[in-house]
Amino acid sequence: MVRKLAAGNWKMNGTGASLAEAEALRAALPAPTVDVLICPPATLLSRLSDTLSGSAIATGGQDCHAAETGAHTGDISAAMLADAGASHVILGHSERRTDHGETDAEVRAKAKAAIAAGLTAVICVGETLAGREAANTLSIIGGQLAGSVPDLVSADRLVIAYEPVWAIGTGKVPTLHQIGEVHDFIRAELEKRFGVGVGRAVPILYGGSVKGANAAEIFAVSNVNGALVGGASLRAVDFLPIVEALQAS
Ligand code: 13P
Repeated sequence: MVRKLAAGNWKMNGTGASLAEAEALRAALPAPTVDVLICPPATLLSRLSDTLSGSAIATGGQDCHAAETGAHTGDISAAMLADAGASHVILGHSERRTDHGETDAEVRAKAKAAIAAGLTAVICVGETLAGREAANTLSIIGGQLAGSVPDLVSADRLVIAYEPVWAIGTGKVPTLHQIGEVHDFIRAELEKRFGVGVGRAVPILYGGSVKGANAAEIFAVSNVNGALVGGASLRAVDFLPIVEALQAS
């Protein structure tokens, strides 16, 4: 059985005051029946992990360097994330691919480092609007999967997040048919590459303008095993209905 995951990506949002949101989440979710993950900015990771320690809510980073240590000013290694309490790390988010020019090969190297450090890599893929309009969506996603996902992963060390770039922070959501088409394709690619056992057990998240109001219908789509949520993960009052919709799915 594939595990369901509700993941929040706080992006470059949040200071110490935001820990209260995590406290509220913790209080409202004493025993969630799905996996729940919050990925705060690096400055909050350690404090958030302490706040959520002993709860069922996990924490993760938003990026890591491919090297273990060294002269890389401003970067953070996977082992450092683990040391700060993280169990997961988001890699290859489209904002990093755009803002920092991250390539598939770099994402793959980072994912290898993350898995070696004991983290679960949440690898993001997604087409731009131009890519979709040119009817290239599946070939783009196939290329990103082939290039960004490292070999020899076990199912519990990998999560794939499908985030159409044009749906992130825009309020635009693909049709349920479009989401299902891409998720079925990702599942088939994972099974082809890793075999049915591993390929079927890797959670595939949808991300891009997920809210309480649309979560249930998205979670009903085939091969959607959860969500990677940006804006609606910042406040417990917005994130909770999404977690609840996943629990009910
Ligand atoms: P929004 O939920 O704000 O559209 O962001 C999605 C996202 O990029 C999560 O990683």
